[in-house]
Amino acid sequence: MSAPVLAPRRERLTGVVTGAGTGIGRACLEVLVDHGARVDAWDRSDEALADLAGREEVAPRTVDVTDAAVVGSAASAALKHWGRIDFVINCAGAFLVGPLADVSAASVRALFEVNVLGTTVVTQALLPALKSSRGSIVNVASSVALKPTASNAHYAASKAAVAHLTRCWALELGPEGVRVNSVAPGPTPTAIYRTAGMSAEQESTLLRERAEAIPLRRVGDPVDTARWIARFALEDDWTTGVVLPVDGGMAL
Ligand SMILES: NC(=O)c1ccc[n+]([C@@H]2O[C@H](COP(=O)([O-])OP(=O)(O)OC[C@H]3O[C@@H](n4cnc5c(N)ncnc54)[C@H](O)[C@@H]3O)[C@@H](O)[C@H]2O)c1
Repeated sequence: MSAPVLAPRRERLTGVVTGAGTGIGRACLEVLVDHGARVDAWDRSDEALADLAGREEVAPRTVDVTDAAVVGSAASAALKHWGRIDFVINCAGAFLVGPLADVSAASVRALFEVNVLGTTVVTQALLPALKSSRGSIVNVASSVALKPTASNAHYAASKAAVAHLTRCWALELGPEGVRVNSVAPGPTPTAIYRTAGMSAEQESTLLRERAEAIPLRRVGDPVDTARWIARFALEDDWTTGVVLPVDGGMAL
């Protein structure tokens, strides 16, 4: 008997997307909902979540992923609201650009707090629920986690940490049926560059230069990455510990 091409999907899967206010996180939310999932949408920005109010399949929640107490309460509230948690997408992230001579200790600390500590705190808070649903964790890394870069070493290092946490957690949690995968997006026009303090001109120069160096000769769209994230979150398959470049070939 031949096996179906896609692994069986359970109905109405439910999970948390961090950084769901904008960019790649918001694209994930929409792709997940399009595929029948329900999403507890976390972001530290109230404003970015405001348009989600009133949607039956989405519960917006203001959460700073670096604050363990707030994350713990949000995890309890999400579980109470939906009754189960099948996936977490760790998408909230920060960017830092600049040479070694210029970065401040405070900016490096703040970067690692969001990208590495935030991913840890959120996953830890949701872990009992994910174990009981034999769920899926998807961490958003970056193509620069796989290919060194001269202009944003600390950001690349923070995302390399996210990629390696993914592999280590896959080993740790596999025996309990929890899958852990990561996507490593290439450059994608979102708010992250401006939030990191780049001017519009610096952002467009960076994205143009990166596009010229990418084998597929274009930067990403948030949906390019969101589709793979949804696949890892929703398909109950035999994949774990993968860090998948979604970058037009940039990491080659
Ligand atoms: N845009 C790119 O080129 C690119 C490339 C590779 C990886 N990524 C990664 O993709 C992820 C999403 O980034 P994006 O490009 O969509 O940027 P974005 O700025 O549009 O989205 C990031 C979201 O995270 C939220 N956030 C930031 N810090 C938070 C915190 N402490 N607690 C809760 N929410 C917080 C922001 O409010 C924002 O809504 C990030 O992890 C980023 O590092 C982006």
